[in-house]
Amino acid sequence: MAILVTGGLGYIGSHTVVELLNNGFDVVIVDDLSNSEKFILKNIEEVAGKKPVFYPFDLKRRELLTQVFDAHQIDGCINFAASKAVGESQVKPIDYYENNLFTLINILQEFKERGISNFIFSSSCTVYGQAEKMPIDENTPLKMPESVYGKTKQMGEEILIDFAKAYNRKISLLRYFNPIGAHPSGKLGELPLGIPNNLIPYVTQTAAGIREKLSIWGDDYDTEDGTAVRDYIYVVDLAKAHVSALKNLLHSNEETVIDIFNLGTGKGSSVLEVVKAFETANDVKVPYQICARREGDITIAYANADKAEKELHWKSETSLEESLRTVWKWQQYLDSRAV
Ligand code: NAD
Ligand code: WQD
Repeated sequence: MAILVTGGLGYIGSHTVVELLNNGFDVVIVDDLSNSEKFILKNIEEVAGKKPVFYPFDLKRRELLTQVFDAHQIDGCINFAASKAVGESQVKPIDYYENNLFTLINILQEFKERGISNFIFSSSCTVYGQAEKMPIDENTPLKMPESVYGKTKQMGEEILIDFAKAYNRKISLLRYFNPIGAHPSGKLGELPLGIPNNLIPYVTQTAAGIREKLSIWGDDYDTEDGTAVRDYIYVVDLAKAHVSALKNLLHSNEETVIDIFNLGTGKGSSVLEVVKAFETANDVKVPYQICARREGDITIAYANADKAEKELHWKSETSLEESLRTVWKWQQYLDSRAV
């Protein structure tokens, strides 16, 4: 019995592979290294003390995927593989639709033909857009996202719901809020590619002197300190939620399951609060300047994650400061590799 983890060398995938191995699952990773590096595989082994099987190829290549399903008894999939840069998705829409949806369909074809169930999909709070009420629960109406990236997530959800209904399979759609942090060992984390767009890698690189100043995108939002508010969820907590969601599918006696869970802390933090928490946690300074709002940004989003607590017996455990300490450790590990 093995679980296929696509994108298993990526940021959230690598942490989830460790948790799966810790929970006794055999893991088969497919990752084309388009946004990850081979040393992560070695680090996963070091951290977990066990070795996942690894295939380096592009999931768009259906014939190679078929060989993986022929070689292993796959009992479920956690599908992390996707392109995830919101800005890039606007200028390369067809590449994003191709990479995020063709890969999904290739895996589902294998599932369909072989009668496999248990599929977990990395969705995002972006499917809610700017919700009218906080906190956001799973019944909050969806809004078609503005970005192509966000649309691929919403379309992916629809494809999976149709798949589950038509073939009586079990699926779980996990809507992450803002994943942050790194493994406490300092050996796994988010690999920054070029200039970071996301807040935490930018903060870390600024503290490390790689970037001169953080630009805070807007201090005129209708929030307590004027900066935008998000729900920052620690990546190891998030990884554990995947194991819970998988077990929930595996243990369900229902033939068809369509699970949807918001994964967040339930608490909103402003950009300025994050910067201060990072400074306090790590005793470093983060120079910043206030700039105009970033196009497409929403004011506020934080989760009501009660459903995950009730049905998956999962909740976020790690404080913002604690997770920001792990990011700094990871930055220092990356710096030590660079010399
Ligand atoms: P990541 O880029 O670190 O990981 C994705 C991995 O998939 C990478 O290792 C990449 O090499 C691999 N990959 C991409 N396309 C592939 C293909 N065609 N074939 C094989 N491998 C391929 O991203 P992440 O932050 O770990 O995100 C994982 C998933 O969670 C993605 O689906 C993302 O959209 C979703 N998500 C991420 C966030 C976030 O803020 N990080 C938030 C919500 C949802
Ligand atoms: C957080 C806050 C910025 C950088 C994106 C995607 C979303 C999801 C997570 C995948 C915002 C502010 C940021 C900076 C700043 N990904 N900021 N200066 O925009 O909430 O969500 O990543 O599904 O789909 O849209 O995350 O980390 O980019 O920004 O002031 O240099 O930090 O304006 O308020 P976001 P983020």
